Amino acid sequence: MDTRTVGCLGGGQLGRMMVYAAHRLGVRMCVLDPLGESSPAGQVSELSIKGSFQAMLRRSELASKCDILTLEVEHVNAQALEELHLKGVPVQPLPFVVKLIQDKYDQKVHLQKHRIPLPDFLKVDSEAELHEIGEKFGYPMMLKSRFGAYDGKGNAVVSDAASIPAAWEKLGGKVEKWAPFKMELAVMVARGVDETMNVTMRTYPVVHTVQRDSVCFTCLTPPVGVTQKEQELAQKIATDAIKSFGDARGIFGVEMFLLDDGSVLLNEIAPRPHNTGHYTMEACGVDQFEQHLRAVLGLPLGDCHLRVGGAMMVNILGQGSTPELTAQTMAPLRCALRVPDAGIHWYGKVQLTLQLCMPWVSLVHKVKKYEYATTAADRGINVIIAG
Ligand code: ADP
Ligand code: NA
Ligand code: MG
Repeated sequence: MDTRTVGCLGGGQLGRMMVYAAHRLGVRMCVLDPLGESSPAGQVSELSIKGSFQAMLRRSELASKCDILTLEVEHVNAQALEELHLKGVPVQPLPFVVKLIQDKYDQKVHLQKHRIPLPDFLKVDSEAELHEIGEKFGYPMMLKSRFGAYDGKGNAVVSDAASIPAAWEKLGGKVEKWAPFKMELAVMVARGVDETMNVTMRTYPVVHTVQRDSVCFTCLTPPVGVTQKEQELAQKIATDAIKSFGDARGIFGVEMFLLDDGSVLLNEIAPRPHNTGHYTMEACGVDQFEQHLRAVLGLPLGDCHLRVGGAMMVNILGQGSTPELTAQTMAPLRCALRVPDAGIHWYGKVQLTLQLCMPWVSLVHKVKKYEYATTAADRGINVIIAG
């Protein structure tokens, strides 16, 4: 169908699922990852290169093997990506967007310029300054490192003035006024082109996301207790934000906060497939991984609508690699196999240092009855697993 080879920076589980989509499209993939062919994506792709996607070591080799480069992680060497792009190697999403998103402060400045609603934020360069901002914003506030953050690892809640020194020591960078959200929402947006190179955009349904210890734990769509108007607002904000990225193509994960008064603030954007879009594999016309490939390759975008009443995703983190802990991780998976319509996605994670298996499973279940979601997140999962 397509004779092109797509190079992917990063070979984690998102890359792995992108490879599955590439197989369906008849597209070849080559992943660049420190684990090479034993990375989650390297295990299943035709080609892989062992090297750092952060430093982008061996990038000329990657470029020589591929027709276009994309990524499954934004913490890459944006400078090197830019240089390749200038030399004529197609890169999508465009390197300037990757660079912008890498810096959580610049990302917010850019979005503010484009009138996207955000929590108040400021760059902070010293502990003393953070005290002053505390007076202005009030407590709690959220301190965030500008670079390299994921899964809450770059965040610290500053609950009062006394907690400033510890937070400052841990992180510097950017501070945000606390967003007293009722719920966290997410929307996946795809941006591609048609045959005449005109921009086309597609927006997936709104998802309610629940983080546990700052890691996405469960996602549910349609979100229960969110009005149609609020959902449309979230989709509009997400779409407007992605429109601000010019000619950049691909799929983008947009995280947002829904407040009690029905307003929506944008939290952050990922320039790649996203945890909160996994449900699309079981529930939507075309899933986020295939959509991403279609977008970067300039193929027609597919249908984003739910094909079922709703969907819930549960992330199950491997607890360790002893037989006992592995059994604990596998237990819900075994149960899920008995649930009609539940989809199971094995991530193929391997711990770099110990070369031990670290299973990380994502369970997706089509929720046909909304009652599943109206229970607390934990009980909701029990409903599924007991199925
Ligand atoms: P990460 O890159 O780790 O995902 P985020 O900026 O998305 O970082 O923050 C992680 C989580 O912290 C969010 O999903 C949300 O639960 C909480 N959070 C982030 N910013 C704020 C804020 N301004 N007010 C309240 N909670 C926040
Ligand atoms: Na990954
Ligand atoms: Mg986040």
